Amino acid sequence: MLNIKNAKLHFASALLLGSLMGASSISHAETLKLSHNGDTKSPIHKALKFFADEVKEKSDGEIRVRVYPNGQLGTQRESLELLQTGALDMAKSNASELESFDPAYGAFNIPYIFRDREHFYKALENNDIGQKILRSSEKYGFVGLAYYDGGARNFYTTKPVRTPADLKGMKIRVQPSPSAIKMMQLMGASPTPLPFGELYTALQQGVVDGAENNIGAVTTYRHGEVAKYFSLDGHTMIPDVLVISSTSWEALSDKKKAILVEAGKASTAYMKKLWSEYTDGELKKASKMGVEIIKVDKDAFIKAVEPMHKEALENPAIAQYVKAIKALDK
Ligand code: GCU
Repeated sequence: MLNIKNAKLHFASALLLGSLMGASSISHAETLKLSHNGDTKSPIHKALKFFADEVKEKSDGEIRVRVYPNGQLGTQRESLELLQTGALDMAKSNASELESFDPAYGAFNIPYIFRDREHFYKALENNDIGQKILRSSEKYGFVGLAYYDGGARNFYTTKPVRTPADLKGMKIRVQPSPSAIKMMQLMGASPTPLPFGELYTALQQGVVDGAENNIGAVTTYRHGEVAKYFSLDGHTMIPDVLVISSTSWEALSDKKKAILVEAGKASTAYMKKLWSEYTDGELKKASKMGVEIIKVDKDAFIKAVEPMHKEALENPAIAQYVKAIKALDK
């Protein structure tokens, strides 16, 4: 519960940040500002625009969502911090980044926890796993609304990586997530947390020797211009997540909350289709950019991160989710 003093402070900082950014989310309660760090050509931007259109239509124009792409309102971390103060209404982040704000999201970040895309979707849709995690963060200042496919993450580097031994001594950019850092250490690399927007230059200038992401980072974000090897080890499948500030959420009527949840579901389904179409073509595009696609034997990578599975089952913040994900039917 907020006491009056805290509430006043929240209100004051929301107003201050709101006016710094040109408009206060408090004075335009039904215009929701949504921040994300994706390119306007990316599938995620299209899915978020789809979400905004759905919300407008289903609410007969009573709720508008204004989408700010390209990290205009800050990095993913900064957006989450603004959200917690109530100065920003919505943000699209991903489970990796969110793990530092709500440890429950760490359940998705265990390498090789998902057998395949079908298993991944089952976990997201399950009421005791993905849906429960969306609701787990209200006490941290935000509420989860929807998941979006982010594909499988793989290494892309300035030197070829075929086995974990090749990663030794390499500086690999990671998201600021305890799981990503741990994974990299177990695989033998040196993890370097950096915001996504700084990565192209960091690769170009040799600040890092590589990174890990879905193929879109190489093509849509042009990292393939400066990192010429993409190794198909598929270590994680990290969902993107749409979240709303608890302050903005509480200000909405039940009817409006339901409209946002339904629009979230519709946009998840839209993104599923978009993502399949997108990734089919992107590997070919990467090859055309001169990026070598390397098929690796995954066993050594899987073995390197085995301790994370054991630790996850002993970690009270995620054990219930990890157990349930592993127990999902084939
Ligand atoms: C993915 C994800 C982004 C994230 C990025 C990263 O592209 O969709 O939300 O910022 O990975 O590695 O930082």
